[in-house]
Amino acid sequence: MQVIPNTNAVILAAGIGKRMKAVCSKVLCEVSGKPMLNWVIDSAKNSGAERCCVVASTDDVVSAAKNAGCTVCLQQERLGTGHAVMMAEDFLRENEDGDTLILTGDAPFMDEETIRKAYEQHKKENNAVTVVTAVLDDAKSYGRIIRKDGKLAAIVEKADCNEEQLAIKEINSGTFWFSTKKLIFALGKITNDNAQGEYYLTDAVALLIAAGENAGACISDSPDVVLGANDPAGLLELNEIAAAKAIKKHLEGGVQFMLRDGIIIGPDVVIEPGAVIKPGCILKGKTFIHRGAVIGPNSMIEDSEIGEGTVFESSKAAKSTVGKDTKIGPYVQLRPDSHIGDQVKIGDFVEVKNSTIGDGTSVAHLTYVGDADVGKFCNFGCGVVFVNYDGENKNRTKVGDFCFVGCNTNLVAPVTLGDCVYTAAGATKTKDVPDGALAISREPLVIKDGWAARKLKKYIDKKSK
Ligand code: UD1
Ligand code: CA
Repeated sequence: MQVIPNTNAVILAAGIGKRMKAVCSKVLCEVSGKPMLNWVIDSAKNSGAERCCVVASTDDVVSAAKNAGCTVCLQQERLGTGHAVMMAEDFLRENEDGDTLILTGDAPFMDEETIRKAYEQHKKENNAVTVVTAVLDDAKSYGRIIRKDGKLAAIVEKADCNEEQLAIKEINSGTFWFSTKKLIFALGKITNDNAQGEYYLTDAVALLIAAGENAGACISDSPDVVLGANDPAGLLELNEIAAAKAIKKHLEGGVQFMLRDGIIIGPDVVIEPGAVIKPGCILKGKTFIHRGAVIGPNSMIEDSEIGEGTVFESSKAAKSTVGKDTKIGPYVQLRPDSHIGDQVKIGDFVEVKNSTIGDGTSVAHLTYVGDADVGKFCNFGCGVVFVNYDGENKNRTKVGDFCFVGCNTNLVAPVTLGDCVYTAAGATKTKDVPDGALAISREPLVIKDGWAARKLKKYIDKKSK
Protein backbone atom coordinates (compact mmCIF):
# COMPACT_ATOMS: atom_id res chain seq x y z
CA MET A 1 0.00 0.00 0.00
CA GLN A 2 1.29 3.40 -1.06
CA VAL A 3 0.60 6.39 1.19
CA ILE A 4 -0.82 9.42 -0.64
CA PRO A 5 0.98 12.43 0.88
CA ASN A 6 -1.13 15.13 2.56
CA THR A 7 -4.31 13.09 2.74
CA ASN A 8 -6.70 12.99 5.66
CA ALA A 9 -9.49 10.50 6.25
CA VAL A 10 -12.49 11.40 8.39
CA ILE A 11 -14.82 8.57 9.35
CA LEU A 12 -18.30 9.58 10.54
CA ALA A 13 -19.27 7.31 13.41
CA ALA A 14 -21.19 9.43 15.90
CA GLY A 15 -24.71 8.40 14.84
CA ILE A 16 -26.72 6.56 17.47
CA GLY A 17 -28.18 3.91 15.21
CA LYS A 18 -31.44 3.71 17.17
CA ARG A 19 -33.03 1.27 14.74
CA MET A 20 -30.27 -1.31 15.33
CA LYS A 21 -31.38 -1.56 19.02
CA ALA A 22 -27.92 -2.96 19.83
CA VAL A 23 -26.22 -2.78 23.23
CA CYS A 24 -23.13 -1.34 21.52
CA SER A 25 -22.93 1.60 19.13
CA LYS A 26 -24.19 0.65 15.69
CA VAL A 27 -20.82 1.04 13.94
CA LEU A 28 -19.35 -1.60 16.29
CA CYS A 29 -21.86 -4.26 15.20
CA GLU A 30 -19.93 -7.04 13.50
CA VAL A 31 -19.83 -8.21 9.92
CA SER A 32 -17.95 -11.53 9.63
CA GLY A 33 -16.69 -11.13 13.18
CA LYS A 34 -15.18 -7.67 12.57
CA PRO A 35 -16.84 -4.43 13.71
CA MET A 36 -18.11 -2.36 10.77
CA LEU A 37 -15.99 0.59 11.94
CA ASN A 38 -12.81 -1.50 11.68
CA TRP A 39 -13.65 -2.51 8.10
CA VAL A 40 -13.92 1.19 7.27
CA ILE A 41 -10.75 2.20 9.16
CA ASP A 42 -8.78 -0.53 7.33
CA SER A 43 -10.15 0.59 3.94
CA ALA A 44 -9.12 4.18 4.74
CA LYS A 45 -5.61 3.08 5.69
CA ASN A 46 -5.21 0.62 2.81
CA SER A 47 -6.32 3.24 0.31
CA GLY A 48 -3.30 5.30 1.35
CA ALA A 49 -4.80 8.04 3.54
CA GLU A 50 -1.97 9.44 5.63
CA ARG A 51 -3.90 10.34 8.80
CA CYS A 52 -7.20 9.04 10.03
CA CYS A 53 -9.76 10.58 12.36
CA VAL A 54 -13.00 9.09 13.67
CA VAL A 55 -15.89 11.36 14.68
CA ALA A 56 -17.47 9.68 17.70
CA SER A 57 -20.04 10.39 20.38
CA THR A 58 -19.89 7.25 22.54
CA ASP A 59 -17.17 5.75 24.76
CA ASP A 60 -17.11 2.39 22.97
CA VAL A 61 -16.45 4.03 19.60
CA VAL A 62 -13.80 6.31 21.14
CA SER A 63 -11.89 3.27 22.49
CA ALA A 64 -12.28 1.27 19.29
CA ALA A 65 -10.95 4.19 17.23
CA LYS A 66 -7.99 4.75 19.55
CA ASN A 67 -7.15 1.03 19.56
CA ALA A 68 -7.04 1.16 15.78
CA GLY A 69 -4.56 4.06 15.93
CA CYS A 70 -6.96 6.82 14.83
CA THR A 71 -7.37 10.36 16.14
CA VAL A 72 -10.77 10.92 17.76
CA CYS A 73 -12.98 14.03 17.41
CA LEU A 74 -16.05 14.22 19.61
CA GLN A 75 -19.46 15.22 18.34
CA GLN A 76 -21.55 15.79 21.47
CA GLU A 77 -24.76 16.76 19.68
CA ARG A 78 -25.62 14.84 16.54
CA LEU A 79 -26.78 17.56 14.19
CA GLY A 80 -26.06 15.81 10.90
CA THR A 81 -23.20 14.61 8.69
CA GLY A 82 -22.08 18.17 7.87
CA HIS A 83 -21.96 19.02 11.57
CA ALA A 84 -19.98 15.80 12.21
CA VAL A 85 -17.28 16.91 9.75
CA MET A 86 -17.26 20.39 11.38
CA MET A 87 -16.17 18.64 14.59
CA ALA A 88 -13.04 17.48 12.76
CA GLU A 89 -12.14 20.97 11.54
CA ASP A 90 -9.08 21.33 13.81
CA PHE A 91 -7.82 17.97 12.57
CA LEU A 92 -8.29 19.12 8.96
CA ARG A 93 -6.56 22.46 9.56
CA GLU A 94 -3.44 20.65 10.82
CA ASN A 95 -2.94 19.35 7.27
CA GLU A 96 -4.96 21.40 4.80
CA ASP A 97 -2.77 21.29 1.71
CA GLY A 98 -4.02 18.09 0.12
CA ASP A 99 -7.27 16.16 0.03
CA THR A 100 -9.65 14.65 2.55
CA LEU A 101 -11.50 11.37 2.27
CA ILE A 102 -14.87 11.22 4.06
CA LEU A 103 -16.29 7.79 4.91
CA THR A 104 -19.32 6.64 6.90
CA GLY A 105 -18.66 4.17 9.71
CA ASP A 106 -21.68 2.00 8.87
CA ALA A 107 -20.75 1.04 5.29
CA PRO A 108 -18.14 -1.73 5.71
CA PHE A 109 -17.78 -2.76 2.06
CA MET A 110 -16.38 0.55 0.81
CA ASP A 111 -13.06 -0.85 -0.41
CA GLU A 112 -9.65 0.59 -1.18
CA GLU A 113 -9.98 -0.06 -4.94
CA THR A 114 -13.11 2.10 -5.15
CA ILE A 115 -11.52 4.80 -2.97
CA ARG A 116 -8.36 4.85 -5.10
CA LYS A 117 -10.38 4.96 -8.34
CA ALA A 118 -12.35 7.95 -7.01
CA TYR A 119 -9.11 9.67 -5.94
CA GLU A 120 -7.63 9.28 -9.42
CA GLN A 121 -10.74 10.80 -10.98
CA HIS A 122 -10.73 13.58 -8.35
CA LYS A 123 -7.18 14.58 -9.29
CA LYS A 124 -7.61 14.11 -13.05
CA GLU A 125 -10.72 16.32 -13.18
CA ASN A 126 -9.18 18.79 -10.74
CA ASN A 127 -12.31 18.56 -8.59
CA ALA A 128 -13.09 20.35 -5.35
CA VAL A 129 -15.26 17.36 -4.48
CA THR A 130 -15.74 13.88 -5.93
CA VAL A 131 -18.52 11.66 -4.59
CA VAL A 132 -18.63 7.88 -4.91
CA THR A 133 -22.03 6.83 -6.24
CA ALA A 134 -23.81 3.60 -7.07
CA VAL A 135 -26.75 2.74 -9.27
CA LEU A 136 -29.35 0.73 -7.36
CA ASP A 137 -32.67 -0.80 -8.44
CA ASP A 138 -34.13 0.33 -5.14
CA ALA A 139 -32.65 3.68 -4.10
CA LYS A 140 -34.12 3.27 -0.59
CA SER A 141 -33.39 6.24 1.67
CA TYR A 142 -30.05 7.11 0.10
CA GLY A 143 -29.38 10.67 -1.08
CA ARG A 144 -30.16 11.09 -4.81
CA ILE A 145 -27.48 12.22 -7.28
CA ILE A 146 -28.74 15.12 -9.40
CA ARG A 147 -26.96 15.58 -12.72
CA LYS A 148 -27.31 18.48 -15.17
CA ASP A 149 -26.08 17.80 -18.72
CA GLY A 150 -24.50 14.63 -17.36
CA LYS A 151 -22.46 16.55 -14.80
CA LEU A 152 -22.93 16.40 -11.05
CA ALA A 153 -25.12 19.28 -9.88
CA ALA A 154 -26.25 18.40 -6.32
CA ILE A 155 -27.14 15.64 -3.86
CA VAL A 156 -30.68 15.72 -2.47
CA GLU A 157 -31.71 13.72 0.60
CA LYS A 158 -34.76 11.50 0.18
CA ALA A 159 -36.78 13.58 2.64
CA ASP A 160 -36.18 16.66 0.50
CA CYS A 161 -36.82 15.06 -2.92
CA ASN A 162 -39.64 15.91 -5.34
CA GLU A 163 -41.39 13.14 -7.33
CA GLU A 164 -38.95 13.31 -10.21
CA GLN A 165 -35.88 13.23 -7.94
CA LEU A 166 -37.29 10.27 -5.95
CA ALA A 167 -37.21 8.18 -9.15
CA ILE A 168 -33.42 8.68 -9.56
CA LYS A 169 -31.48 5.43 -9.17
CA GLU A 170 -27.99 6.87 -8.79
CA ILE A 171 -27.30 7.41 -5.10
CA ASN A 172 -24.72 8.90 -2.73
CA SER A 173 -22.55 6.27 -1.04
CA GLY A 174 -21.50 8.72 1.68
CA THR A 175 -17.86 8.47 0.53
CA PHE A 176 -16.25 11.65 -0.79
CA TRP A 177 -12.90 13.11 -1.72
CA PHE A 178 -12.66 16.85 -1.01
CA SER A 179 -9.87 19.33 -1.51
CA THR A 180 -9.25 19.97 2.19
CA LYS A 181 -9.22 23.79 1.93
CA LYS A 182 -12.42 23.80 -0.13
CA LEU A 183 -14.10 21.45 2.31
CA ILE A 184 -13.28 23.83 5.18
CA PHE A 185 -14.70 26.70 3.09
CA ALA A 186 -17.94 24.78 2.40
CA LEU A 187 -18.37 23.69 6.04
CA GLY A 188 -18.64 27.37 6.97
CA LYS A 189 -21.60 27.79 4.62
CA ILE A 190 -23.74 24.70 5.32
CA THR A 191 -27.08 25.48 7.02
CA ASN A 192 -29.76 23.25 8.52
CA ASP A 193 -32.54 24.65 6.36
CA ASN A 194 -34.02 21.32 5.17
CA ALA A 195 -36.70 18.72 5.90
CA GLN A 196 -34.73 17.11 8.76
CA GLY A 197 -33.31 20.32 10.26
CA GLU A 198 -29.79 18.83 10.00
CA TYR A 199 -26.48 20.10 8.69
CA TYR A 200 -26.02 17.94 5.60
CA LEU A 201 -22.51 17.28 4.33
CA THR A 202 -24.16 16.64 0.96
CA ASP A 203 -24.98 20.36 0.67
CA ALA A 204 -21.23 21.00 0.25
CA VAL A 205 -21.53 19.75 -3.34
CA ALA A 206 -24.03 22.42 -4.52
CA LEU A 207 -22.21 25.09 -2.47
CA LEU A 208 -18.88 24.36 -4.14
CA ILE A 209 -20.44 24.24 -7.62
CA ALA A 210 -22.10 27.63 -6.90
CA ALA A 211 -18.64 28.97 -5.97
CA GLY A 212 -17.41 27.96 -9.43
CA GLU A 213 -15.58 24.79 -8.42
CA ASN A 214 -15.51 21.44 -10.25
CA ALA A 215 -17.48 18.54 -8.78
CA GLY A 216 -17.44 14.95 -9.99
CA ALA A 217 -19.18 11.64 -9.38
CA CYS A 218 -17.38 8.31 -9.56
CA ILE A 219 -19.75 5.37 -10.11
CA SER A 220 -18.60 2.29 -8.16
CA ASP A 221 -18.09 -0.95 -10.07
CA SER A 222 -20.14 -2.91 -7.56
CA PRO A 223 -23.27 -1.53 -5.88
CA ASP A 224 -22.37 -3.58 -2.76
CA VAL A 225 -19.72 -1.07 -1.71
CA VAL A 226 -22.37 1.42 -0.65
CA LEU A 227 -24.42 -0.94 1.47
CA GLY A 228 -24.88 0.08 5.07
CA ALA A 229 -26.72 -1.48 7.98
CA ASN A 230 -29.35 0.54 9.79
CA ASP A 231 -31.20 -2.33 11.53
CA PRO A 232 -30.67 -6.04 12.37
CA ALA A 233 -32.10 -7.12 9.00
CA GLY A 234 -29.60 -4.88 7.22
CA LEU A 235 -26.78 -6.27 9.35
CA LEU A 236 -27.79 -9.84 8.48
CA GLU A 237 -27.83 -8.92 4.80
CA LEU A 238 -24.29 -7.55 5.05
CA ASN A 239 -23.15 -10.68 6.90
CA GLU A 240 -24.66 -12.93 4.23
CA ILE A 241 -22.98 -10.98 1.45
CA ALA A 242 -19.63 -11.00 3.29
CA ALA A 243 -19.83 -14.76 3.99
CA ALA A 244 -20.61 -15.59 0.36
CA LYS A 245 -17.81 -13.32 -0.89
CA ALA A 246 -15.28 -14.84 1.50
CA ILE A 247 -16.07 -18.39 0.36
CA LYS A 248 -15.80 -17.33 -3.29
CA LYS A 249 -12.42 -15.69 -2.64
CA HIS A 250 -11.00 -18.73 -0.80
CA LEU A 251 -12.38 -21.21 -3.37
CA GLU A 252 -10.50 -19.27 -6.01
CA GLY A 253 -7.44 -19.52 -3.78
CA GLY A 254 -7.62 -23.32 -3.68
CA VAL A 255 -9.37 -23.86 -0.34
CA GLN A 256 -11.87 -26.73 -0.20
CA PHE A 257 -15.35 -26.57 1.33
CA MET A 258 -17.87 -29.43 1.57
CA LEU A 259 -20.82 -27.17 2.25
CA ARG A 260 -21.31 -23.46 2.79
CA ASP A 261 -23.44 -23.88 5.91
CA GLY A 262 -22.46 -21.89 8.94
CA ILE A 263 -19.09 -20.83 7.57
CA ILE A 264 -18.00 -17.31 8.47
CA ILE A 265 -14.53 -16.19 7.43
CA GLY A 266 -13.34 -12.73 8.42
CA PRO A 267 -11.73 -10.41 5.87
CA ASP A 268 -8.27 -10.64 7.46
CA VAL A 269 -8.11 -14.45 7.56
CA VAL A 270 -5.48 -16.08 5.35
CA ILE A 271 -6.00 -19.69 4.23
CA GLU A 272 -3.42 -21.47 2.12
CA PRO A 273 -4.40 -23.64 -0.84
CA GLY A 274 -5.19 -27.24 -0.02
CA ALA A 275 -6.73 -26.49 3.37
CA VAL A 276 -10.19 -27.93 4.00
CA ILE A 277 -12.87 -26.04 5.88
CA LYS A 278 -15.81 -28.15 7.05
CA PRO A 279 -19.29 -26.81 7.92
CA GLY A 280 -19.95 -24.69 10.99
CA CYS A 281 -16.59 -22.91 11.25
CA ILE A 282 -16.07 -19.32 12.30
CA LEU A 283 -12.58 -18.06 11.45
CA LYS A 284 -11.93 -14.51 12.49
CA GLY A 285 -9.35 -11.84 13.27
CA LYS A 286 -5.80 -12.31 12.01
CA THR A 287 -6.04 -16.08 11.62
CA PHE A 288 -3.67 -18.04 9.38
CA ILE A 289 -4.49 -21.58 8.23
CA HIS A 290 -1.62 -23.42 6.55
CA ARG A 291 -1.91 -25.77 3.59
CA GLY A 292 -3.42 -29.17 4.17
CA ALA A 293 -4.97 -28.27 7.53
CA VAL A 294 -8.46 -29.68 8.04
CA ILE A 295 -10.67 -27.41 10.12
CA GLY A 296 -14.05 -28.36 11.57
CA PRO A 297 -16.76 -29.21 11.69
CA ASN A 298 -18.05 -26.70 14.24
CA SER A 299 -14.88 -24.88 15.19
CA MET A 300 -14.09 -21.32 16.15
CA ILE A 301 -10.63 -19.86 15.55
CA GLU A 302 -9.69 -16.28 16.31
CA ASP A 303 -6.31 -14.54 15.86
CA SER A 304 -4.57 -17.92 15.68
CA GLU A 305 -2.27 -19.88 13.41
CA ILE A 306 -2.95 -23.52 12.51
CA GLY A 307 -0.01 -25.42 11.01
CA GLU A 308 0.33 -27.49 7.86
CA GLY A 309 -1.54 -30.78 7.89
CA THR A 310 -3.05 -30.22 11.32
CA VAL A 311 -6.53 -31.54 12.05
CA PHE A 312 -8.61 -29.18 14.17
CA GLU A 313 -11.93 -30.82 14.95
CA SER A 314 -14.91 -29.32 16.84
CA SER A 315 -12.70 -27.07 18.94
CA LYS A 316 -11.96 -23.48 19.79
CA ALA A 317 -8.75 -21.42 19.71
CA ALA A 318 -8.01 -17.77 20.49
CA LYS A 319 -4.68 -15.92 20.16
CA SER A 320 -2.80 -19.23 19.94
CA THR A 321 -0.56 -21.16 17.58
CA VAL A 322 -0.63 -24.82 16.59
CA GLY A 323 2.22 -26.55 14.76
CA LYS A 324 2.33 -29.06 11.91
CA ASP A 325 0.61 -32.46 11.71
CA THR A 326 -0.98 -32.00 15.11
CA LYS A 327 -4.40 -33.25 16.09
CA ILE A 328 -6.64 -30.98 18.12
CA GLY A 329 -10.07 -32.11 19.31
CA PRO A 330 -12.77 -32.91 19.44
CA TYR A 331 -13.89 -30.51 22.19
CA VAL A 332 -10.64 -28.71 22.96
CA GLN A 333 -10.33 -25.12 24.05
CA LEU A 334 -7.05 -23.28 23.41
CA ARG A 335 -7.25 -20.05 25.37
CA PRO A 336 -4.95 -17.07 24.67
CA ASP A 337 -1.18 -17.58 24.50
CA SER A 338 -1.23 -21.32 24.00
CA HIS A 339 1.51 -22.59 21.73
CA ILE A 340 1.20 -26.19 20.63
CA GLY A 341 4.08 -27.91 18.81
CA ASP A 342 4.28 -30.31 15.87
CA GLN A 343 2.79 -33.82 15.93
CA VAL A 344 1.05 -33.15 19.22
CA LYS A 345 -2.25 -34.71 20.20
CA ILE A 346 -4.69 -32.70 22.29
CA GLY A 347 -7.79 -34.79 22.79
CA ASP A 348 -11.30 -34.43 24.06
CA PHE A 349 -12.23 -32.08 26.91
CA VAL A 350 -8.77 -30.56 27.28
CA GLU A 351 -8.34 -26.87 28.06
CA VAL A 352 -4.99 -25.16 27.52
CA LYS A 353 -4.21 -21.61 28.60
CA ASN A 354 -1.02 -19.52 28.41
CA SER A 355 1.11 -22.64 27.96
CA THR A 356 3.54 -24.20 25.55
CA ILE A 357 3.37 -27.87 24.63
CA GLY A 358 6.41 -29.43 22.98
CA ASP A 359 6.54 -31.55 19.82
CA GLY A 360 5.19 -35.07 19.97
CA THR A 361 3.46 -34.67 23.34
CA SER A 362 0.06 -36.23 23.95
CA VAL A 363 -2.61 -34.73 26.22
CA ALA A 364 -5.42 -36.99 25.17
CA HIS A 365 -8.28 -36.62 27.61
CA LEU A 366 -9.97 -34.47 30.28
CA THR A 367 -7.03 -32.31 31.29
CA TYR A 368 -6.44 -28.67 32.24
CA VAL A 369 -3.07 -27.23 31.28
CA GLY A 370 -2.76 -23.68 32.62
CA ASP A 371 0.38 -21.49 32.82
CA ALA A 372 2.73 -24.33 31.95
CA ASP A 373 5.76 -25.13 29.82
CA VAL A 374 5.60 -28.74 28.75
CA GLY A 375 8.46 -30.42 26.92
CA LYS A 376 8.65 -32.91 24.04
CA PHE A 377 7.28 -36.45 23.80
CA CYS A 378 5.42 -36.38 27.12
CA ASN A 379 2.30 -38.41 27.76
CA PHE A 380 -0.45 -37.19 30.05
CA GLY A 381 -2.94 -39.65 31.46
CA CYS A 382 -6.62 -38.87 31.75
CA GLY A 383 -7.69 -36.14 34.15
CA VAL A 384 -4.48 -34.27 34.89
CA VAL A 385 -4.91 -30.83 36.47
CA PHE A 386 -2.29 -28.12 36.44
CA VAL A 387 -3.22 -26.34 39.67
CA ASN A 388 -2.09 -22.86 38.67
CA TYR A 389 -4.07 -20.56 40.94
CA ASP A 390 -3.68 -20.36 44.71
CA GLY A 391 -6.40 -17.75 45.16
CA GLU A 392 -3.93 -14.89 44.90
CA ASN A 393 -1.38 -15.62 42.22
CA LYS A 394 -1.13 -17.59 39.02
CA ASN A 395 1.97 -19.80 39.15
CA ARG A 396 3.78 -21.71 36.40
CA THR A 397 4.50 -25.40 36.08
CA LYS A 398 7.40 -26.80 34.10
CA VAL A 399 7.44 -30.33 32.73
CA GLY A 400 10.61 -31.55 30.99
CA ASP A 401 10.91 -33.90 27.99
CA PHE A 402 9.84 -37.59 27.88
CA CYS A 403 7.66 -37.42 31.03
CA PHE A 404 4.78 -39.78 31.81
CA VAL A 405 2.25 -38.06 34.05
CA GLY A 406 -0.22 -40.52 35.54
CA CYS A 407 -4.00 -40.28 35.42
CA ASN A 408 -5.70 -37.95 37.87
CA THR A 409 -2.54 -36.13 38.87
CA ASN A 410 -2.57 -32.64 40.35
CA LEU A 411 0.53 -30.57 39.60
CA VAL A 412 0.42 -27.82 42.20
CA ALA A 413 2.29 -24.78 40.82
CA PRO A 414 4.91 -23.53 41.12
CA VAL A 415 6.40 -26.96 40.51
CA THR A 416 8.91 -28.49 38.12
CA LEU A 417 9.14 -32.02 36.78
CA GLY A 418 12.56 -32.73 35.27
CA ASP A 419 13.19 -34.76 32.11
CA CYS A 420 12.13 -38.43 31.96
CA VAL A 421 9.98 -38.20 35.08
CA TYR A 422 7.28 -40.75 35.82
CA THR A 423 4.46 -39.81 38.18
CA ALA A 424 2.13 -42.38 39.67
CA ALA A 425 -1.61 -42.10 39.06
CA GLY A 426 -3.82 -40.22 41.49
CA ALA A 427 -1.06 -38.17 43.03
CA THR A 428 -0.76 -34.56 44.08
CA LYS A 429 2.66 -33.12 43.26
CA THR A 430 3.66 -30.17 45.40
CA LYS A 431 7.46 -30.68 45.24
CA ASP A 432 9.88 -30.55 42.31
CA VAL A 433 10.76 -33.95 40.85
CA PRO A 434 14.34 -34.44 39.58
CA ASP A 435 15.28 -35.90 36.17
CA GLY A 436 14.66 -39.61 35.82
CA ALA A 437 12.69 -40.00 39.09
CA LEU A 438 9.37 -41.64 39.91
CA ALA A 439 7.04 -39.61 42.12
CA ILE A 440 4.30 -41.31 44.13
CA SER A 441 2.10 -39.86 46.84
CA ARG A 442 -0.27 -42.56 48.00
CA GLU A 443 -1.68 -43.90 51.24
CA PRO A 444 -1.09 -47.69 51.53
CA LEU A 445 -4.13 -49.59 50.22
CA VAL A 446 -6.19 -51.20 53.04
CA ILE A 447 -8.44 -54.19 52.24
CA LYS A 448 -11.21 -55.19 54.70
CA ASP A 449 -12.54 -58.61 53.73
CA GLY A 450 -16.35 -58.94 53.70
CA TRP A 451 -17.00 -55.38 54.89
CA ALA A 452 -18.86 -54.20 51.77
CA ALA A 453 -20.89 -57.39 51.38
CA ARG A 454 -22.31 -56.91 54.92
CA LYS A 455 -22.92 -53.19 54.32
CA LEU A 456 -24.75 -53.78 51.00
CA LYS A 457 -26.86 -56.77 52.01
CA LYS A 458 -30.14 -54.85 52.50
CA TYR A 459 -29.64 -52.87 49.33
CA ILE A 460 -28.97 -55.96 47.22
CA ASP A 461 -32.03 -57.75 48.69
CA LYS A 462 -34.24 -54.74 47.82
CA LYS A 463 -32.98 -54.49 44.26
CA SER A 464 -33.17 -58.25 43.63
CA LYS A 465 -36.89 -58.57 44.52
C1 UD1 B 1 -26.13 9.77 4.52
C2 UD1 B 1 -26.16 10.79 3.38
C3 UD1 B 1 -26.89 10.18 2.19
C4 UD1 B 1 -26.19 8.89 1.77
C5 UD1 B 1 -26.05 7.93 2.96
C6 UD1 B 1 -25.15 6.79 2.57
C7 UD1 B 1 -26.21 13.03 4.35
C8 UD1 B 1 -27.05 14.19 4.73
N1 UD1 B 1 -26.85 11.97 3.83
O1 UD1 B 1 -27.47 9.52 4.87
O2 UD1 B 1 -26.90 11.09 1.10
O3 UD1 B 1 -26.91 8.27 0.71
O4 UD1 B 1 -25.45 8.59 4.08
O5 UD1 B 1 -25.10 5.84 3.60
O6 UD1 B 1 -25.00 13.07 4.50
N2 UD1 B 1 -23.21 10.62 11.61
C9 UD1 B 1 -22.50 11.32 12.55
N3 UD1 B 1 -23.05 12.39 13.12
C10 UD1 B 1 -24.29 12.85 12.80
C11 UD1 B 1 -25.02 12.13 11.84
C12 UD1 B 1 -24.46 11.03 11.25
O7 UD1 B 1 -21.36 10.95 12.87
O8 UD1 B 1 -24.72 13.86 13.37
C13 UD1 B 1 -22.60 9.44 10.99
C14 UD1 B 1 -23.35 8.16 11.28
O9 UD1 B 1 -22.78 7.49 12.39
C15 UD1 B 1 -23.14 7.34 10.02
C16 UD1 B 1 -22.91 8.40 8.95
O10 UD1 B 1 -22.61 9.60 9.60
O11 UD1 B 1 -21.99 6.52 10.11
C17 UD1 B 1 -24.13 8.57 8.06
O12 UD1 B 1 -25.19 9.00 8.88
P1 UD1 B 1 -26.67 8.49 8.67
O13 UD1 B 1 -27.55 9.14 9.64
O14 UD1 B 1 -26.71 7.01 8.56
O15 UD1 B 1 -26.94 9.16 7.25
P2 UD1 B 1 -27.96 8.68 6.18
O16 UD1 B 1 -29.30 9.20 6.51
O17 UD1 B 1 -27.81 7.25 5.94
CA1 CA C 1 -26.89 5.36 6.97
